[in-house]
Amino acid sequence: MVAGEKGIVSLAPMDGLTHVAFRRLVAHYGAPDFFYTEMVSVRAVVFQPPERDPYLWHTEVDRPLILQLAGREPELFQEAIRILDERFDFHGYDLNFGCTRGRARRQGWGATLLSEPDLARRIARAARRATRKPLSAKLRSAPEHDLKKLLSFAEGLLSEGVETLILHPRAPEEGFRRPPRWEEIRELKRATGARIIGNGDVFSPEDAARMLSATGCDGVMIGRAALLRPWIFRDVRAFLKGESSPAPPHPLEATTILAKNLEFLPEEWREKRFSLWLFWYLQNFPFGLYYFGQVQKAQGISAKITLLEKLLSREKIPPYPARILQNR
Ligand SMILES: Cc1cc2nc3c(=O)[nH]c(=O)nc-3n(C[C@H](O)[C@H](O)[C@H](O)COP(=O)(O)O)c2cc1C
Repeated sequence: MVAGEKGIVSLAPMDGLTHVAFRRLVAHYGAPDFFYTEMVSVRAVVFQPPERDPYLWHTEVDRPLILQLAGREPELFQEAIRILDERFDFHGYDLNFGCTRGRARRQGWGATLLSEPDLARRIARAARRATRKPLSAKLRSAPEHDLKKLLSFAEGLLSEGVETLILHPRAPEEGFRRPPRWEEIRELKRATGARIIGNGDVFSPEDAARMLSATGCDGVMIGRAALLRPWIFRDVRAFLKGESSPAPPHPLEATTILAKNLEFLPEEWREKRFSLWLFWYLQNFPFGLYYFGQVQKAQGISAKITLLEKLLSREKIPPYPARILQNR
């Protein structure tokens, strides 16, 4: 990975959301240093024809793109990466040791592996064996914020050839209920000296600068705020250079750009993916959750856009920080 001028800025992997159409919307406004895909199952890559898997689709503009892999069998990670290296041009791979969402929990992927450090190491070893490309791992805090466990887990991965660690410092049992403990990002950087990307509650360009200076991390990864403000990366970059942010676009603009980019997804995915994003994007507005309920009743993407034209015609994007009204 090559650092940006003052800190690397990445789009976080988000299941159901950071697909090619959304990444193109982000790229329209100003790409981050790295895009991450949503998590992709190693099993799916190995056992289904990868060229036909929309989770792997990407274009010229959503680059450099890092594919996030989830699973629990080291040999499937190795085989999946071998296949992907042979047939695709991803910039690198990320190992998911952080996700607590239903699918990951049920399958024993993601944050479940924080309690299985030997297996996690074997996964990292298998991945490293399969590729010379950049390899990162995304972690949460250890259960109950056990810092010693986190540091030893991290050292294990680094010793197997993972080069970059991304930390979202909330424990698996916390969901989004408590604030992230950025001090664990600082500790991880101090103890390992490795390339560390901080993640969690960066809702404005000021937050990004604050995380960089408070923790000494090498970069920040932004998730939910990028769903609300897909243009946040250009604003962070401007802020870090000491320049002022450009004015936000009209609220309708991002909805119409995403709707157009949905053509890069299979037809049967389009409306569902549009809705998944609108749930977050409409939270920019005080009545956003009410708007979302209304838009859900409109059938079809063009009917949804027509209603959005009405609902958003008098709205404005509020100043930073982006505020989340409800998590999912
Ligand atoms: C809807 C949603 C889906 C997510 N899916 C993933 C995922 O597939 N892989 C992953 O590592 N983290 C996933 N996460 C966690 C985010 O990448 C990120 O760590 C978290 O949202 C904290 O960052 P933020 O405060 O900037 O949103 C997801 C988060 C959300 C809200």
